[in-house]
Amino acid sequence: MNKTWWKESVIYQIYPRSFNDSNGDGIGDLQGITEKLDYLKELGVDVIWLSPVYKSPNDDNGYDISDYQDIMDEFGTMQDWEKLLTEVHNRGMKLIMDLVVNHSSDEHKWFVESRKSKDNPYRDYYVWRPGKDGREPNNWESAFSGSAWQYDEATEEYYLHLFSKKQPDLNWENPDLRKEVYKMMTWWLDQGIDGFRMDVINFISKEPGLLDAPNPEGKKYVGGGRFYMNGPRIHEFLHEMNNEVLSKYDIMTVGEMPGVTVDEAKLYTRDDREELDMVFQFEHVDLDSGPNGKWDLRPLDLRDLKQSITKWQTGLNGEGWNSLYLNNHDQPRMVSRFGDDGKYRVESAKMLATFLHMLQGTPYIYQGEEIGMTNVRFDSIKDYKDIEILNMYKEKVIEGNESHDKVMESIYVKGRDNARTPFQWDDSEHAGFTTGEPWLKINPNYHEINAKQAVEDQNSVYHYYRKLIKLRKQHPIIVYGDYQLILPEDKQIFAYTRSLENEKLLVVTNFSGESVPFSLPEDVDFTANELLTSNYAIEGKPSLSFELRPYEARVYKGF
Ligand code: NOJ
Repeated sequence: MNKTWWKESVIYQIYPRSFNDSNGDGIGDLQGITEKLDYLKELGVDVIWLSPVYKSPNDDNGYDISDYQDIMDEFGTMQDWEKLLTEVHNRGMKLIMDLVVNHSSDEHKWFVESRKSKDNPYRDYYVWRPGKDGREPNNWESAFSGSAWQYDEATEEYYLHLFSKKQPDLNWENPDLRKEVYKMMTWWLDQGIDGFRMDVINFISKEPGLLDAPNPEGKKYVGGGRFYMNGPRIHEFLHEMNNEVLSKYDIMTVGEMPGVTVDEAKLYTRDDREELDMVFQFEHVDLDSGPNGKWDLRPLDLRDLKQSITKWQTGLNGEGWNSLYLNNHDQPRMVSRFGDDGKYRVESAKMLATFLHMLQGTPYIYQGEEIGMTNVRFDSIKDYKDIEILNMYKEKVIEGNESHDKVMESIYVKGRDNARTPFQWDDSEHAGFTTGEPWLKINPNYHEINAKQAVEDQNSVYHYYRKLIKLRKQHPIIVYGDYQLILPEDKQIFAYTRSLENEKLLVVTNFSGESVPFSLPEDVDFTANELLTSNYAIEGKPSLSFELRPYEARVYKGF
C-alpha cells in the first residue's frame, strides 16, 4: 500500500459559524479560529477542514455560495483568511477548504444572469426545463422537502435544486462551467491550501432525460437519487478535474458521497484511477433510519454496524482509502447517538473514539467531539435555525398532520442543529463562544462540558483524544494494518484485529451500558504484549478473557 501524509493524518472539522466569535456579533469568524489554533495544535491534529467561509446569503449556512473567491462578511476578510492560513502553516498544520460545486447560491452572478433569458450566455450553467402538464418537469424531491424544481417567472421555466430553492444545481454537462470551476479551484490552490472536501460531489452528473423516479406509493415528490447519484459521467468529470487541477499539487481530497457503494468508492479512490483520495460514505449513519428516511427513527442494531464497517474496511483495503467519522455538521453528536450522553458520557465518548481511531482510514474529528459535546433539546421549534429542520417541520406539522411532539422527538435525535450549537469553551456566559447573543442557542450543559474543564482534567475525553492521535504517529499498524472482525454476532461488543507484517492489535469495545464478559475466540491467533490504551484503569498483565465494564474499550498490541 502506498504511504502518504493524508493517510497518516488526523483531520479536524471546523464549522466556522459555531467555533469562536472574535467580534461579539454572535457568529463565529476567521479571527476567532486563528485565536484557537494553539488549542488544535495541542490536541495534535494535522489538518483542519473549514466548512464554507465564502460569500453567501446563508440560506444553508454557507453551503449556498454567491462568490467562490471572496469571504463571507460575518466571517471577516480575505486578509483574515490569509492570516489564518499562514498561522495554520506556521504551526505545521494544513488547511483544506470546502468545495461546493454541485450548486451555487441563486445570488451568484452566474445564476443572476442565467435566469434573465433563455439565450443568456450563462443560461446553460444551470439545469433549466419547461414544465410538464402544468407541473414540475419531474417528481424529484429536494433534500430539504418539497419539489426539487422551482418555477421562474422571467423565462417561464423551472430550475433544478436538489437542496434549497436558493441552491440551484450547476450544469456539469457544460464544458465552460467545468472550466470556470477548475479555474477557481486552481486559484485557491495557488493561495497555498492543502486540499478540498467536496460537497455532494457524486451528484454532479445527472442521468440524461431527468426521468421521473419510480413512485409506487403515488407520493407527490420522491427521492430521485439513482438519477443523480454516481451518474453516468461522474468518473469522467472527476478524472478531468484531477488532470486539470488536483494532480498538479501535493494535496488531499475527500468527496462527500451519499449513496456511494464500496465498489463505486474503489473507482473514486484507487490510486491508478486519478480521481479523489477518499470519500465520505453514508452507510453507517443510515442504519438507524427506517424506510421513510432520516426522520423515521429506528434503533441501531450493533450487528448491522459491524457488517457495514467490515464491508468498507475489507473492501477498500489496498484498493482505495476510507475516511472515518461518526459525526459532522450534518449528523447528530456521536456520544448521544452511539454512546450514552448521561451517566457514561465520558466513558462512551472515549470508547467511540477508540473504536473509530483504530480502524483503517483517516479519522475526522468534528469540533466539540473531542470534549464530548452532546445533542441539545430546545423546547420551541423557533430556537432551531437549520433549513432542513424548519422545512421538514413545516411540511409535516404545519401543512401536514403529524404531531408536534413526534416531530420534535425526531429533531432531538437527528436534527443537524445538534452538532451546530456553539463550541463550549468555558463555563462563562455564552460558554466563552461570544460576548454577544449567539446565532444559535448554546447547549445548557456548557457549565459541565467545556474545553477549559477538559484541558485541566487529565482524565477528560480531550486528553484521551490526544493520546489516540499520538499513538497513530507511533504505530504504523494503526494507519496501515489489515482489519479483521471478530465476534460478528455479538450484540454488545465490537471487536476486531489489525495486522501489519508480524504485529497485531486487538481492539475490544463495549457498545452497551452493561458489563459483559469478553473472551478471545479460539480461532483468533493473537498473543498480547502490552495494553496500548483503555478508557478504564486496568491492573495486571494483559489478558484475553475479561469482564468489560460499561462502554469499556481496550487496545492490546502483540503478535
Ligand atoms: C452537504 C453539506 O454537508 C450540507 O451541510 C449541505 O446542506 C448540503 N451538502 C448542501 O450543500
